[in-house]
Amino acid sequence: MLVLGIETTCDETAAAIVERRDDGSGRIASNIVRSQDAEHAPYGGIVPEIAARAHVNVLDTLIARAMKDAGVNFASLQGVAAAAGPGLVGGVIVGLTTAKAIALVHNLPLLAINHLEAHALTARLTDNVKFPYLLLLVSGGHTQLLWIGDVGQYRRLGSTLDDALGEAFDKVAKLLGLGFPGGPLVSAQAAAGDATRFAFPRPMLGRDDLNFSFSGLKTAVRQTVQTNAPLDGPTIADIAASFEAAVAESVQDRVARAIAMLRDDEGRKGFSLVVAGGVAANEKLRAGLKTLAERLGVPFIVPPPALCTDNAATIAWAGAERLARGLVDDLGAAPRARWALDEKAVPLLGSGRLGAKA
Ligand code: KG4
Ligand code: ZN
Repeated sequence: MLVLGIETTCDETAAAIVERRDDGSGRIASNIVRSQDAEHAPYGGIVPEIAARAHVNVLDTLIARAMKDAGVNFASLQGVAAAAGPGLVGGVIVGLTTAKAIALVHNLPLLAINHLEAHALTARLTDNVKFPYLLLLVSGGHTQLLWIGDVGQYRRLGSTLDDALGEAFDKVAKLLGLGFPGGPLVSAQAAAGDATRFAFPRPMLGRDDLNFSFSGLKTAVRQTVQTNAPLDGPTIADIAASFEAAVAESVQDRVARAIAMLRDDEGRKGFSLVVAGGVAANEKLRAGLKTLAERLGVPFIVPPPALCTDNAATIAWAGAERLARGLVDDLGAAPRARWALDEKAVPLLGSGRLGAKA
């Protein structure tokens, strides 16, 4: 089964062709991502109207290239998938309307995909991981622990009470004068820094629930920046490293708690730990969680960085997973600015936001 995927929810325009085989394994036939960083850089953040227009300008060319790279035409496709939210609604409309037009003209099933579901299912494309699994979803707009029972069966176990983790990285980057998007820049600085120089708080450490919080940590970074101003190179690196260490320890504590809770309270065994979303590209976080998972005897899967950040192969794959189960959408599917994965869970403060990238 071959599916075209389209991603336009934020500041990446992306198109990809993914194959799902009968045994449930996947293959990326093509995967093209065009970042809008240059368009937004003068504003220090994402301008929604500029994002939507940039998607319109390049999406058709990107789709044509993805088809060419994969050596397919519309007649060889079994479905067309687009991210229908959550995200900046102007951009979502561009991708979803394009997918609807293709579906209509070529008589293909439409898959209106939740962007978060695409992140959640990526490890099945890259590693063919079996259900169920514990998912740590960490992106610019979301920070959640989810129980993934099957396609469409998502239970939120915990969430951030304030900032998303990617958002915290982006804000710290701004405080350190590093630019945008901040995650990779903070982590590059951290590599050369001394993580023990500043004793930043480890938010939520030891708490019984499975929630996260990063705003206090961010405030601590701001105070340290002010106290040490003007910052020299080594101090920037030390603050970045100390911040990253605090984040890694806090996240590891939350994940360890989730694993213990699932095992003790719910008697669940035989699940893997999967990490997804843009911040899963962070090396320090990946390494810390890998060590933790090994210690606790839980299989650990994290997709390669290029499939953790926004792309269309993940959208196409989520489409293929749904199509294989007959979960198709009609052409009336609406673009959604907000769209929780676990729609039964009570929204917590800060959840379902558009995120720092917006
Ligand atoms: O999933 P994603 O590409 O977009 C959203 O859906 O939000 O995540 C983007 C976020 C940004 O906040 C970016 O700073 C962060 O992921 N990020 C990182 C790294 N690479 C991207 N954060 C920390 N370390 C990284 N290496
Ligand atoms: Zn994302």
